[in-house]
Amino acid sequence: MNAPALQGLEINAPDYVKHPRLLAWVADMVALCKPERVYWCDGSQDEYDRLCQQLVDAGTFKKLNPAKRPRSYLAWSDPSDVARVEDRTFICSEKKEDAGPTNNWMAPAEMRATLQPLFDGCMRGRTMYVVPFSMGPLGSHIAHIGVELTDSAYVAVNQRLMTRMGRAVYDVLGVDGDFVPCMHTVGAPLQPGEQDKPWPCNPTTKYIVHYPETREIWSYGSGYGGNALLGKKCLALRIASVMGRDQGWLAEHMLILGVTSPEGKKYHVAAAFPSACGKTNFSMLVPPPAFQGWKVTTIGDDIAWIKPHADGKMYAINPEAGYFGVAPGTNHLTNPNCLASLHQDVIFTNVALTDDGDVWWEGLEKDGGGALPAHLLDWQGKDWTPEDGKAGRKAAHPNSRFTVAATNNPALDPQWDDPNGVPIDAFIFGGRRSTTVPLVTEARNWMEGVYMAATMGSETTAAAFGAQGVVRRDPFAMLPFCGYNMSDYFQHWLDMEHKLERLGHTLPNIFCVNWFRKNAEGQFVWPGYGENMRVLKWMIDRIEGRAQGRETMFGIAPQYAEINWQGLDFTPAQFEAVTHIDKAAWTEEFKLHAELFDMLAYHLPKELLATKAAMEQRLAAA
Ligand code: GTP
Ligand code: SPV
Ligand code: MN
Repeated sequence: MNAPALQGLEINAPDYVKHPRLLAWVADMVALCKPERVYWCDGSQDEYDRLCQQLVDAGTFKKLNPAKRPRSYLAWSDPSDVARVEDRTFICSEKKEDAGPTNNWMAPAEMRATLQPLFDGCMRGRTMYVVPFSMGPLGSHIAHIGVELTDSAYVAVNQRLMTRMGRAVYDVLGVDGDFVPCMHTVGAPLQPGEQDKPWPCNPTTKYIVHYPETREIWSYGSGYGGNALLGKKCLALRIASVMGRDQGWLAEHMLILGVTSPEGKKYHVAAAFPSACGKTNFSMLVPPPAFQGWKVTTIGDDIAWIKPHADGKMYAINPEAGYFGVAPGTNHLTNPNCLASLHQDVIFTNVALTDDGDVWWEGLEKDGGGALPAHLLDWQGKDWTPEDGKAGRKAAHPNSRFTVAATNNPALDPQWDDPNGVPIDAFIFGGRRSTTVPLVTEARNWMEGVYMAATMGSETTAAAFGAQGVVRRDPFAMLPFCGYNMSDYFQHWLDMEHKLERLGHTLPNIFCVNWFRKNAEGQFVWPGYGENMRVLKWMIDRIEGRAQGRETMFGIAPQYAEINWQGLDFTPAQFEAVTHIDKAAWTEEFKLHAELFDMLAYHLPKELLATKAAMEQRLAAA
């Protein structure tokens, strides 16, 4: 036992870290990355304040006006480092088929040989932060621990808001607890005397790498979001989806909300929408006045870990402890709870700076009666006036975000931190589709629900790398996040039905939604946001057997009279515009489903093809 302890001394580990394997790993990584110093995060408020001040001194953070936005900061990233980089994200399983056709793959040995020279000396001149965190309530049987080694203080402070981060994690780990090693570097070593940049990153070389078999994460070159906060997409989705496959549970790109009726009956819903398609929004929904007495509460806004329980229900927890949410479009009308979460203790990234030291983003003008600020500094620090806005130059980057602790959310569900999770009554799947997909339908059975989720398409947004507004298939909103072969993942979902059947069978209902249909003029035909409560209420009526619905080719749709329209002027003609199933459009849509299934042919569950054939038959008969 002497060797690891000795290494522990070399790396200045605090004496409360008593885990030889962890200490040896840190020592190895120090030898590889060659940082100037090692700093062990304890997760305290004092440490957070110190690191934030250090980031202010380095020019990474601007401290916002404390009278307007207490204890809050703004970071502007390098223009080359503004979103997740899907084309640089790799699943390095031993066999290519285990990563599947939707993931970039490289053999582990080859990837290790590629990364070795990149990581060698990558932290020169920098501090290595040791960031211990728990995904899920500390010590809970469903939680998993990660330790991120990073040369970014920005990452360390973000992780304190996004996860349960700090010293208590070592008590849970003990001397031999399991943890997922998460290596992160901005990939910008400093030469002696070299002046650092406010947002160091590697503008040309980025790798976001996962080894599912050994459960390791290695991230190089980016300091932004899911590329760098490795507990989120890398651990809680890509690695956790593999754990879920092996252990019989689900790691999903889903919000979780509670909805309580005026009579006090509570339901729990988990919903998968692709990136920047409304999860944070829906999870904090404020019901319109017509729904007096109804209450929506947030359990999570992005990720759900869901386990079948001995009582035959599926229980979900939010592994995160904070929100890394999209800023643009957020205002008092679209998401008042979110705005209220952002009054203090926030880290903003890539929004605009006002002349009085506050933040601004597109959409915020709706709160001030439409008036734009006369002058701003945009997310790159350049002067911005409403004239620039008219010319199409955005003040905030479209993927600009806020980081905030969940405890800031006024609509936080009292059970958000419950280690047992909440029982799920319904799953919702929805993409961003300007045509074809109706406002809402319910799957007639589990199989049909899995079909709807598997064939989901969405128009791409600024949260994903590449062209915007192009429809791409995004099965279960997991395309960039499934850590294994997508067809095996479909099978895993199908198997869940039989697993629950054996336990007494209380399967959640499955719904498919689309808030984003547009008319010929390009305007949304559904008001969305809080008005989505009308759809949520219909779902509850379906669960309770109170709404009959009507059969369509693509599941059961609401009848006009089954939706509460009180306080919203929405005619049957408008309802038809959001729910209509167009035969020609669906004929084309099924061709795209066929293309997806061709691509996923290896291990594709045959039942999906049978379900497709049945739907096409119904379409032809309609
Ligand atoms: P990630 O954090 O990337 O996973 O995104 P998210 O799914 O949490 O998306 P978010 O709630 O942040 O919404 C992203 C964008 O969609 C914002 O610009 C919202 O204004 C917009 N949006 C959300 N809900 C609706 C809706 O019901 N209708 C319309 N038209 N837009 C919406
Ligand atoms: C997403 O893109 O789905 C996000 C943002 O939630 S990030 O954490 O950057 O992946
Ligand atoms: Mn997300």
